[in-house]
Amino acid sequence: MSNYNIKNLEEYFQIYRKSVREPENFWEEIAEEHFVWRKRWTNVMRWDFSKPEVAWFENGKLNITENCIDRHLHIRGDKTAILFEPNDPNEKAQHISYNELYERVCKMSNVLKEQGVEKGDRVCIYLPMIPELAVSVLACARVGAIHSVVFAGFSSNALAARINDCDCKMVITSDGSFRGPKTIDLKSIVDMALVDCPGVESVLVVKRINSEVNMKEGRDQWLQPLLDKAGSKYTAEVMDAEDPLFILYTSGSTGKPKGMVHSSAGYMVFTAYTFKNIFNYQENDVYWCTADIGWITGHSYIVYGPLANGATTVMFEGVPTYPDHGRFWEVVEKHKVTQFYTAPTAIRALAKESLAFVDKYDLTSLKVLGTVGEPINEEAWHWYNNNIGKNKSPIVDTWWQTETGGIMISPIPYVTPTTPTFATLPFIGVQLALMDEHGQELKEKQVEGRLCIKYPWPAMARTIWGDHKRYYDTYFSAFDNMYFTGDGAKRDAVGYYRITGRVDDVIIVSGHNLGTAPIEDAINEHPAVAESAIVGFPHDIKGNALYGFVILKEVGESRKPENLRKEINQQITEHIGPIAKLDKIQFVPGLPKTRSGKIMRRILRKVAAKDTSNLGDISTLLNPEVVEAIIKDAL
Ligand code: WTA
Repeated sequence: MSNYNIKNLEEYFQIYRKSVREPENFWEEIAEEHFVWRKRWTNVMRWDFSKPEVAWFENGKLNITENCIDRHLHIRGDKTAILFEPNDPNEKAQHISYNELYERVCKMSNVLKEQGVEKGDRVCIYLPMIPELAVSVLACARVGAIHSVVFAGFSSNALAARINDCDCKMVITSDGSFRGPKTIDLKSIVDMALVDCPGVESVLVVKRINSEVNMKEGRDQWLQPLLDKAGSKYTAEVMDAEDPLFILYTSGSTGKPKGMVHSSAGYMVFTAYTFKNIFNYQENDVYWCTADIGWITGHSYIVYGPLANGATTVMFEGVPTYPDHGRFWEVVEKHKVTQFYTAPTAIRALAKESLAFVDKYDLTSLKVLGTVGEPINEEAWHWYNNNIGKNKSPIVDTWWQTETGGIMISPIPYVTPTTPTFATLPFIGVQLALMDEHGQELKEKQVEGRLCIKYPWPAMARTIWGDHKRYYDTYFSAFDNMYFTGDGAKRDAVGYYRITGRVDDVIIVSGHNLGTAPIEDAINEHPAVAESAIVGFPHDIKGNALYGFVILKEVGESRKPENLRKEINQQITEHIGPIAKLDKIQFVPGLPKTRSGKIMRRILRKVAAKDTSNLGDISTLLNPEVVEAIIKDAL
């Protein structure tokens, strides 16, 4: 069916119009013709953003793993499903065929079942980028358990908070992980976390780095012996279209992380359809997304989207700088990668190095390049386009969020003409709106406003685990009958969208979303700290870096500022993880506050960006005198 494969701009507009005029017919056709269902839905869609309540393919029954694995076996059983490229370039890559993936997922499903995991149970997966991670995710889906993957760079405190928030009964982890030249002891991080997680009954441990680990009697087991004994068939659990498939935590501007809950059917249909079109995937392509499965990009565009299309998806365990800055390009040459999807921060880091790292390798296999996670600056876009794409591979600048489940704004390669720094046009079925601060929609072209979505799309998150009110408050209360993204955007004269960045207190550092509140909470736990405020400031490679303004409890604090700075960052590492460390820490006598006691971050942002020539109106401040002191000592 032509709708599944958009071939030119005219067709894009035609299909887009249909998806807006008759969304139910449109998505019903896609769902019907491209997926296998155990039972057909009775109603395509129901929605009410005032609650908010959204359901797609109501009463349909399916299992996403039958769509991602079983249905491919008779046509492409021997085709590589997952191509695993290890951290160490001297370790052999693994080509896991669809047949083999089927067997591994079935065995893992049997293990989960034998260990007492039931439909609806939550399982925490804290693993490095090794095949067992994808297998565990799919096995959870096959038995109907809800997976909650936690990025293996999070600290034990952050892990414990995520395990407890959704009451996981099992944790799947490994002895450790390889990361460039380093190894990390994941199991000991899990052990520390579990001191505070009484609900966890069992821990399954993958052997990866062969380190000595502590195994707690009655709780911890090595995974391999269990797999060796497990049966190699497992009939997939029949799931309702709206049954939760997974929970994935994302930072909020306030308080604890939000466990975004994604559905089974709508998520599957949308991630598969976007994958096919936005990466122009063809049968013998080798697709590589460099994200970690601990983030939404890995869920949707390493695991589910590609596998639902019977694709070959590369899973890379390593880092772009090991053993040297040519690693990405070495892997592209080695596996003849056709689609390459990465983050602007990685591009900027590699663009700083000699082009010799690029020129050494044959990149002629590449057909499509992608970026995600933060705005890509013009310089990085051109470097990517000239040196990696050789001006012939279109760049898809894909805008989306953990909450949206799949890509929402993006060019379609070989269809949409690209413009650097513009994510261009809404994807099929996505109805965008730019809103002004008074809640009015800006309907003209060439405007800038808050980016909202007016109509449901199949992969949107359904709720925040355990806190539906917060789901409403965060996304649906700012503008009537709209999903508010938290981002600002510009629309140009031809209707292209350019994302300008977050308009809330989330800061994107190296493509990772960080909320200011949890970092401030971590800092404030330091015994010498009275209060703190975090803002972002522009950084060449990371996009944004963090600047902390910290008030110490005692004026005559005797410890050296350098030591205090180290301790504060250590505190953050323990509470959240090294990704949230501050680049700069300034000790200040006070923080600029409004009369109602709110920190005026606008001023702090200007100080951090070294742009204090025009601070705007500060007369409403409770304590205007601190501003001068802060500027004087700015770092
Ligand atoms: C930002 C990642 C500009 C944006 C898939 C969004 C982007 C947040 C882009 C979500 C892009 C993502 N251009 N900004 N192409 N893609 N963002 O939940 O601020 O980790 O709200 O999902 O990243 O980050 P998240």
